[in-house]
Amino acid sequence: MKIFVINGSPKGNRSNTYKLTQAFLAGMKESAENAKEDFEVEEIWVSRLEIRPCLGCFSCWDKTPGSCCIQDDMREVIQKLLWADITIWSFPLYYYTVPGGLKNLIDRQLPMALPFMVENEDVSGNGSHPSRYDMSGKKTVVISTCGFYTAEGNYDGIYSLFDHAYGRDNYTTIFCGQGELFRVPDLSKRTNEYLGYVQNAGREYVLGGILPETRAKLEELLYPRETFETWADLSWGIDKEKGEKESDALIFTRQMAVLYRKESYSGKEQVLEMYYTDIDECYQIVMGKEGSRVVTDGSEHATTRIETPLSVWRSIAAGEIRGDEALMQKLYKVKGDFNLMLKWDEYFGDAGTNTNGNRGASKTNGQKTVSGIHIPQRETNMNIMLIPWIVFWVAAPIDSYLGSLISIGVCALVPLLFYQNKKTFYDILSGALISGFSMAALCGGSSRILVPLSYLSFGIMWSATCLVKIPLTAHYSMNSYNGEDALLNPLFMKTNRILTLLWGILYLMTSVWTYLLMGTMVKPYIGAVNSVVPIFMGIFTVWFQKWYPRKVAMGE
Ligand SMILES: Cc1cc2nc3c(=O)[nH]c(=O)nc-3n(C[C@H](O)[C@H](O)[C@H](O)COP(=O)(O)O)c2cc1C
Repeated sequence: MKIFVINGSPKGNRSNTYKLTQAFLAGMKESAENAKEDFEVEEIWVSRLEIRPCLGCFSCWDKTPGSCCIQDDMREVIQKLLWADITIWSFPLYYYTVPGGLKNLIDRQLPMALPFMVENEDVSGNGSHPSRYDMSGKKTVVISTCGFYTAEGNYDGIYSLFDHAYGRDNYTTIFCGQGELFRVPDLSKRTNEYLGYVQNAGREYVLGGILPETRAKLEELLYPRETFETWADLSWGIDKEKGEKESDALIFTRQMAVLYRKESYSGKEQVLEMYYTDIDECYQIVMGKEGSRVVTDGSEHATTRIETPLSVWRSIAAGEIRGDEALMQKLYKVKGDFNLMLKWDEYFGDAGTNTNGNRGASKTNGQKTVSGIHIPQRETNMNIMLIPWIVFWVAAPIDSYLGSLISIGVCALVPLLFYQNKKTFYDILSGALISGFSMAALCGGSSRILVPLSYLSFGIMWSATCLVKIPLTAHYSMNSYNGEDALLNPLFMKTNRILTLLWGILYLMTSVWTYLLMGTMVKPYIGAVNSVVPIFMGIFTVWFQKWYPRKVAMGE
């Protein structure tokens, strides 16, 4: 497969459109490699070539048929057009058509046509010239971004041009509005998602054509019209009414405010106060039912206050530092309601930072979107790990033989739950350990020893994981904190490490008093007795999970 890319943006590799083209090529390459097909790409940047305007002399038709009288880089371009199986035209929309440099290139294709008049059956109301070369079997892709909020209605000129050149429905298009957003790092989560769909499109194109579901995603706006237009207007940094330049921090805060999602309104107005410590400027974002507004005189009562150097918040917003890491490094402080930080994604979506700092992957309704591909996610479930232990702890002290039999039965049934849940190493280890203790009891082992021993092994299992990369509780509690992304959050990991250790110590201690109580008349009730302390520990855990991150956020 030979592909010729014509990058018609004067911005070369800084082109927004070129990002889409690269994603499309990456998708094509994947499919070609899977099919073990050759994949060759030749690329030109129109801005780097010398392609002078057509002189309109027609000498390429009469004096030197097939050859232009101008000696410049266009000769090479024609060679590549003839060489390629697929030509990708990549350009920004300029005045509802192609940029000037690219128009020169298009005009200079005249030597590729024969002078004769023929009917173009594909497009009505015109004449046409036949091709000098056999171009059958060659394919064309047109990729373009434009600056307005939508591509719809803006590409009539382009459609007309390519319909006449290649025939209606004889070429594939990807046209995307809001093109300038592709160069904004703060919004890369959304634009990367879109690029993921473009990559899918490239993959599908090689396999026969872009699928309707991908096409539908490509036609979605990057952001709602109002959000985009307000954001774009702000990006010029000029006060709309006075026409004066505004402070960088104010513009930045306004842009954050624009991305507030009013659907996340929880019934109570919130005021996020941004205090930029390095420049001593303070602005408030009032997040209400109807949307957000920025207050510059500090007259609102702040519910959450972030104290940060502007540069730090900018780096977080651009994805250069993770928000949670910066918090752990005490690069900024959060005062007041910390919940806003935990739910940042819900409130601001892409407004730069959040406490999980996730980029290019988002989670919706149990599905994960990675580069535009939806992967159904199975979640871990701590009950699967706990059930065998609880059954053994309750049943074995009452009746060692029957309790052990029931425990083995439960361990055998637990794997059925793996159809719906993601299994962890600890689920399997728990099943294996409890089966072992139960077998030992069935073989005549004393429950007086085996039950405390099981508590001891449970305690060791928990405490030991504090020394490994992912502490035990993190495997399960990540489900409530943005899935596996939470494992990259140092604050989440530290909270879990502490909790895992505390639970581990609790069960190490439980093994001691269980051993002592198993020799008394309390023995049949030991399961019930031992569930009292964990109830309090559970309450503590819920409190600690909220208290500890808040404490760190306040810089204490
Ligand atoms: C001279 C000029 C003319 C433009 N004309 C249009 C236009 O007619 N419609 C539109 O939606 N955007 C227009 N734009 C915006 C560009 O299409 C948009 O910024 C695009 O994303 C740039 O892509 P690139 O980075 O690949 O060059 C124009 C930009 C320039 C510089």
